[in-house]
Amino acid sequence: MKNINPKRILYKISGECLMGNTGYGHDFDTIKALCIDIKQALTLGIEICIVVGGGNIYRGAKAEQAGIERTTGDYMGMLATVMNAMALQNVLEQSGVATRVLSAIPMASICEPYIRRKAVRHLEKGRVVIFAAGTGNPFFTTDTTATLRAMEMGCDILVKGTSVDGIYSEDPKKNPNAIRYEHISHKDVIEKQLKIMDISAISLASDRGLKIAVFCIKQDMPLTNLLQGNAPFTIVG
Ligand code: GTP
Repeated sequence: MKNINPKRILYKISGECLMGNTGYGHDFDTIKALCIDIKQALTLGIEICIVVGGGNIYRGAKAEQAGIERTTGDYMGMLATVMNAMALQNVLEQSGVATRVLSAIPMASICEPYIRRKAVRHLEKGRVVIFAAGTGNPFFTTDTTATLRAMEMGCDILVKGTSVDGIYSEDPKKNPNAIRYEHISHKDVIEKQLKIMDISAISLASDRGLKIAVFCIKQDMPLTNLLQGNAPFTIVG
C-alpha cells in the first residue's frame, strides 16, 4: 500500500457484501471468495481483525420505520452481525484459516466474549479475529465499532470495503465527472459531509489519527490487491 506498510489491519465488511446478488442473507460463493482473499492477504505477513455488519439480515433503522422501537431494532441488528461472524468464521476455517469470534454481548454457548487482551493474543498467534455484536450498545453503527476496535487493537489502518473504489467529490454513480480523492483529511470528510462513515465513527478516527483506506470490495481479491497497491483507493488521515 502506498506509504503504508501495515502490520495489523481492521477489515470492515458490510453485511450486504455477504449476500452477493441474492438480495438477502448469505451467498456462500461470495463469502468463499472473500475468505480466499483474506487467506491470501495473511501470506503478506499481516494480522487481520474483522468487523462485519448485519444489514444483509436486519437493519435497525429500517425496522424503526416499520414500528420496531429503535433500541430493540439495534439489538436485533447486533444479533445479525453474530450470524455473519459465524458464517465468515466457518468458511474461513474451511479454507484453513484459524479464526476466533469475540462478541461484545456475551453469549458463551456460541462464541467467546470480547476481552481485549485475549483478542490481541489471538492476533499474535496468527488467528483472524472477528468482532461480533457491534459495541454491544444501541445507537452505534458497525463503522463506529470498526473504528473503536481498530484503536483498541492498535491497528495501523482501518480498511473499509465499499461498492466504489474510494471517496469521490460527489456520488460517482450520479455524476460521472466526480473526482476521486487519493488522500483526504478526516476534517474534510466531516466538513464536506462525505458520507463514507457516520459522524461518530469518523470523529473517533479523527481524534486518534486512525487512518482509513476506502476501496472497492466488488473485485477479485480486493484486500490482497489493496495491500499490494494494485487497486485504486482513498486514504483518509
Ligand atoms: P489459546 O489456548 O490461548 O491458544 O487459545 P484458544 O482459543 O485456542 O484456546 P481456548 O481454550 O481459549 O479455546 C478453544 C476453543 O474454544 C476456541 O475455538 C475458542 O474460540 C472456543 N472458546 C473459548 N472460549 C469460549 C467461550 O467462552 N464460548 C465459546 N462458545 N467458545 C469459546
